[in-house]
Amino acid sequence: MTHATHALSDEITTLRDAAVTALATVESLDKAIAWERAYLGPKGRVTSLLRGLSGLAAEDRPQAGRDTQALRAELAERFEAVRERLAVAARQRHLAEDAIDVTLPGRPVAIGAAHPVSRMIDEVIEIFAHLGFQAVFGPEVETARYNFDLLNIPANHPARDVWDTIIVESERDDVVLRTHTSPMQARTMERIQPPVRVIVPGRSYRYEAQDASHEWMFTQLEGLAVDEHITLADLKGVLQEMARQLFGPRRRVRFRCDFFPFVEPGVDFAVDCAICEGAGCRVCKQSGWLEMGGAGMVHPNVLRVVGYDPARYTGFAFGLGIERIIMMKYGVDDLRAFAGNDLRFLRQFARAVV
Ligand code: DAH
Repeated sequence: MTHATHALSDEITTLRDAAVTALATVESLDKAIAWERAYLGPKGRVTSLLRGLSGLAAEDRPQAGRDTQALRAELAERFEAVRERLAVAARQRHLAEDAIDVTLPGRPVAIGAAHPVSRMIDEVIEIFAHLGFQAVFGPEVETARYNFDLLNIPANHPARDVWDTIIVESERDDVVLRTHTSPMQARTMERIQPPVRVIVPGRSYRYEAQDASHEWMFTQLEGLAVDEHITLADLKGVLQEMARQLFGPRRRVRFRCDFFPFVEPGVDFAVDCAICEGAGCRVCKQSGWLEMGGAGMVHPNVLRVVGYDPARYTGFAFGLGIERIIMMKYGVDDLRAFAGNDLRFLRQFARAVV
């Protein structure tokens, strides 16, 4: 062994010890990569050692080359083992952190529910479908012509004051928010010939001081049937059937004379109170009857303006408040609750009205 190879052999031993000691302290992938760069990388210590071999005497080079390559191979193998161990550990840590306990109960999803008014609309549509009535829907922004004129309520007639009308600002002065669903009477009759059997659920608006039984927005249900030989008895039968379906089998319907310009005769109608069976209670205010709405036989003028012959056709019409039905059925005592968006109120109906 020459002096030079001796010195190299020492150098290899020193470098190997340093490298192995350093690798033993490595405990992350990043550090392992840094270690690799420091010893085995293009500018690493083993690589520089290899490069330096060219300065050796020719006869010393083969052995020195083999020794240095052996060191390089050993360190590369050690590095690979450490890298593999750290990679496995990292993957396992990752899996443990991201583990999902599939046995945990799921978080409940809030799915919401239809508004009680929407549900009641669906319920009456269903009831009237069985009686041969089709549901139609009309515009909430109306012209005075449909809201009043065609309903036998001429301009400047005092009857108009009955409806506290919200007027829509526009270039025309005859645009209103419909005060009732009755404008759909003329709209429907203009479109089709008798027999007519429709119901019209929808929002209506009145300029009103609000209290427990008055809102500026509410929901009406209009009904209209026109054909030959329709009588007041048909009206009563239909309303009675509706009352039975809504409030139970023993319900009775009461008519009293009333006035609406678009019917003759006109009535108001009430259903005997389902809660006290007519004996008198809080919900019916001790009267035994629940006021439902207005109705009557369609006025000949209303038939005439849409081109129907009043000598041949007769019809009945009715209008009632959807919210009122819900109030009577469930003992709700404040109309303002419906548009109030109080979820505690609304949630009660999520299961109640099916
Ligand atoms: N439209 C009336 C109102 O809102 C209610 C009404 C009464 C409707 C009699 C009718 C009816 O169809 O015949 O005050």
